[in-house]
Amino acid sequence: MTIFVRINLHYNFNKYLNMREINLSTKIAVYPLDECSDLEKKLIAAAKHATEKAYTPYSNFKVGAALLLENGEIITGNNQENAAYPSGLCAERVAIFYANSIYPDQKVVAIAIAAYANNKFTKDAITPCGGCRQVLLEAENRFGTPMRILMCSEESVYVVNSIKDLLPLSFGEEQLKASK
Ligand code: THU
Repeated sequence: MTIFVRINLHYNFNKYLNMREINLSTKIAVYPLDECSDLEKKLIAAAKHATEKAYTPYSNFKVGAALLLENGEIITGNNQENAAYPSGLCAERVAIFYANSIYPDQKVVAIAIAAYANNKFTKDAITPCGGCRQVLLEAENRFGTPMRILMCSEESVYVVNSIKDLLPLSFGEEQLKASK
């Protein structure tokens, strides 16, 4: 015999007498690629170039990430897939772990991300996955500097000045410290 139980997940918020609400909002600047500064264009070009060497036999979705370090150097990475899917890694994390491993003291001041699929750069802006957002947050905290994030689409770029804009209510070092 099968018994079906209906679980009501839609809470009636009105029943909480002392409830308050928190509103989260994010401002994202969106501008055409040709209005980017020369440095932004250079970083975006590096991210696009990096897509060419992505290893993506499973998704065919090629992502490139280019980091600008404080010393002016640009470090790139791309996604590396694996037959055991979770063992692969996104472009952003490949780039940031590589940069941190060779320049552990260099602040990451900006990152550009681009994605190529079906023989063209994606129509929609490529936005970092949740896991990469957490890793980018760690880099901001580690170096104490916010990171400008350029998320490219075919013709425009979405820009925020800190990963915190893309990861509200994040878990970071402050939460760990607060627990002590
Ligand atoms: N991917 C990235 O490299 N970065 C992102 O921000 C989103 C997703 C990769 C992971 C996987 O290799 C492929 O894109 C499809 O999810």
